Amino acid sequence: MAPMSGVTDPAFRWMMAKYSKYGGRDIGDHGKENVAGITPGGPDVIYTEFISADGLFLGDKDELLKDMRYSEIERPVVVQFFSPDPERMKRAASLAVEMGFDGIDINMGCPDRSVCKQGAGSELIRSPGLAVKMIRSVKEGSGGVLPVSIKTRAGYDSDDELEDWIGTLLNEDLCALALHARTRKDMYKVPARWDLIKKAVKIRNTLGVGTLILGNGDIDSLSDLHDKVKGSGADGAMVGRALLGNPRFFSGSPEPSPEERLGVLIEHCELFHDLFRERKSFAMVKKHFRGYVSGWEGSKELRSALMEAEDPVEIKRTIEEYLKRAR
Ligand SMILES: Cc1cc2nc3c(=O)[nH]c(=O)nc-3n(C[C@H](O)[C@H](O)[C@H](O)COP(=O)(O)O)c2cc1C
Repeated sequence: MAPMSGVTDPAFRWMMAKYSKYGGRDIGDHGKENVAGITPGGPDVIYTEFISADGLFLGDKDELLKDMRYSEIERPVVVQFFSPDPERMKRAASLAVEMGFDGIDINMGCPDRSVCKQGAGSELIRSPGLAVKMIRSVKEGSGGVLPVSIKTRAGYDSDDELEDWIGTLLNEDLCALALHARTRKDMYKVPARWDLIKKAVKIRNTLGVGTLILGNGDIDSLSDLHDKVKGSGADGAMVGRALLGNPRFFSGSPEPSPEERLGVLIEHCELFHDLFRERKSFAMVKKHFRGYVSGWEGSKELRSALMEAEDPVEIKRTIEEYLKRAR
């Protein structure tokens, strides 16, 4: 499960764990789950949203700690940090150990102007020396206790940079390297190029290092994931946008009925509200609505009505009225 800012928040991570790993069974409430005796399915690893290490130590730490909350059912759970400053990344890594995360990922791929302007995210592709320093600092901060991984893109301006860039990273004895198969310049404008993942695997094999290569970009279903992994020779893959409004993605269960989907949407909205009511606008959870509410007759009208709702009570009422009319 790929890190996505404003998406893979504690509420959605919990929904993913419940509906993908535990098949949507009744496992109790957030933080009070009972999953005894159930063997969890995928996703194999869940990532948080990226967390600003500068924000943690120069800004409002308490607020960011709320984004870093996780529940036991998400494990293994990896926290992703970004910053241009190796020292603050080191402190962030120590905090991750303290908080009991299972791994630390460094964001070296974000193309957003606000992040790049700070010298973080994909900007590090243009500063390989700093990137190496950053990895070493994070390892130091983690005291060798947690695995360290990187998520990045195939280059800044051109994929000609791939070999040098990931060669530099792979020499740092990383646990995993997740590669989004586009350059920074590509943003999302061109299709992901899985031939670049294949190339990355080849580079890793030539170097003879044990770093796992995770391919990323444009996976739209579980079977697509398996095909892309097989075709590229990657050790695994990360899925991002296809998860929005689709917490069952990894379960492999048959397509749920509209009624089931709407039930999960209500649960998601209620959990988001419980966890974030004072802090985040309810509008943020609405980015999942297209995923939950599409593909059947009348779904577009229902989605428009739901977009107007201001809290989970209104969401529930709108859905109940819709279902009454539809029956
Ligand atoms: C809304 C959104 C937020 C994202 N936030 C992050 C982030 O915090 N950290 C990160 O490494 N990548 C982030 N990404 C990139 C995704 O993890 C992923 O690399 C990208 O969307 C391509 O995968 P996909 O085609 O499966 O979505 C974000 C993407 C989206 C759409």
